Amino acid sequence: MSRPAQLVVRAERDLPPLDPSWLAAQEQQALSVVQGAGRRAGTLLRRWALKSAVADLLELSATPASLRRIGVRHDAQGAPSIMVDGQEAGLEGSVSACAGWAVGLACSGLSPAGVDLELIAPQGEDFVRDWFTAGETAYVHRHREGSPERDLATTLVWSAKEAALKALGRGLFADPRTVEVSLGAVGSPQAWAPLQVAVTDGRPLPGWWRREGRFVVTTVYAVGSPTAGPPPPVGETTALARAVPVSRGSRAGG
Ligand SMILES: CC(C)(COP(=O)(O)OP(=O)(O)OC[C@H]1O[C@@H](n2cnc3c(N)ncnc32)[C@H](O)[C@@H]1OP(=O)(O)O)[C@@H](O)C(=O)NCCC(=O)NCCS
Repeated sequence: MSRPAQLVVRAERDLPPLDPSWLAAQEQQALSVVQGAGRRAGTLLRRWALKSAVADLLELSATPASLRRIGVRHDAQGAPSIMVDGQEAGLEGSVSACAGWAVGLACSGLSPAGVDLELIAPQGEDFVRDWFTAGETAYVHRHREGSPERDLATTLVWSAKEAALKALGRGLFADPRTVEVSLGAVGSPQAWAPLQVAVTDGRPLPGWWRREGRFVVTTVYAVGSPTAGPPPPVGETTALARAVPVSRGSRAGG
């Protein structure tokens, strides 16, 4: 394993079937009882993206048999942990799906990490008022209402919040206002840019964000050295640059 982190992008349209070639029996069973075709596809897509990121990190061949060796368990709050051949793998993993696309992040020897994928979309003022801190609200309001920059800023703040809450293992069981996102200018080109998240207990969490086409990807690390910065994820996100969102829509704000 030569990399600290691996990030992969997967599309729902390329989903492998829900079959034993890449899923263990209990995984097939768990996925088959997820209600609704859309929810089932989303769950399957997240599982595929996360397993693929782990396989890439471990430099396993990209075969269904390799993916089958990788398992995902969830704690009571929904946080995933990675198993390989039925054993705790000592790896950190996180995954996010949005509008028919998913990103999976696997890390080794790092702190817990969270990843989030969102479709850039406008959000109403009530959304900002309900979920953003005063600092985040001021940041969003620096961008003209109705402008593409405002939509990007709002989506990015929300996405980084979700990534941070995943890195902390809490998800939306925690109040999103317990983490405060700080970002630079949103006009960056399609490249990783740093972000920082302050937790109400005083911990600063480092992370990265990137815009690809109509999507943003954020990653946040739960401990580590904010001054040194987190390692940028290794992996290609460029498939998202041309990605057409599936019309079920974004979860941003949802
Ligand atoms: C974590 C959460 C914010 C993700 O939101 P989302 O935008 O709907 O979905 P995403 O695709 O980005 O992420 C889903 C993944 O987040 C991860 N996740 C869920 N809860 C998590 C937690 N507490 N910590 C870390 N990761 C978590 C899981 O890997 C999940 O995918 P999987 O279950 O298929 O493995 C949200 O699912 C959550 O908090 N759920 C638990 C609380 C809840 O359901 N509250 C009711 C609504 S307020």
